[in-house]
Amino acid sequence: MEKEIRIRLKVNGRQKEIQVMPNERLVDTLREKLGLKSVKMGCLTGECGTCTIIYDGQLVKSCLILSAEADGKEITTVEGIAKTEEMEKIKRTFAANNAFQCGFCTPAFTLLAYWLMKNKPEATNEEIEEASNSILCRCTGYIQIIQAIREALSLLRK
Ligand code: FES
Ligand code: FES
Repeated sequence: MEKEIRIRLKVNGRQKEIQVMPNERLVDTLREKLGLKSVKMGCLTGECGTCTIIYDGQLVKSCLILSAEADGKEITTVEGIAKTEEMEKIKRTFAANNAFQCGFCTPAFTLLAYWLMKNKPEATNEEIEEASNSILCRCTGYIQIIQAIREALSLLRK
């Protein structure tokens, strides 16, 4: 049997030390060992984007990363931004635009909106659309989601 490895992660602002298997995916560690159920398991092949997290400041798909590789990294999920001002704006514009139905993709789009607010507050429509291509939504189509993200960004300027 393969031996577990001890890793350290900074998750939503808190240091964590956990044992992982060498072949364990980060999405599994986050959901099963750290209880972060906002990180969804979809395709597990890097296509649907529902497992998106912020990883050392970048949006990445956590099903494509081994937990052992993440040693020393800083991770943010929706649980970590729940009480931020940005999240208040995101909640408002997503609700106003009916930008979710089943909600499965919503945590990933929420993180995308938050990341744009922090890193590209002046993002153009094309940039928002391009960024949104990395996440699949099977329910809404993308018009409402993109509009909600655009409005959340514009609320930053008010
Ligand atoms: S579950 Fe990671 S991209 Fe689909
Ligand atoms: S709201 Fe159902 S997958 Fe996007």
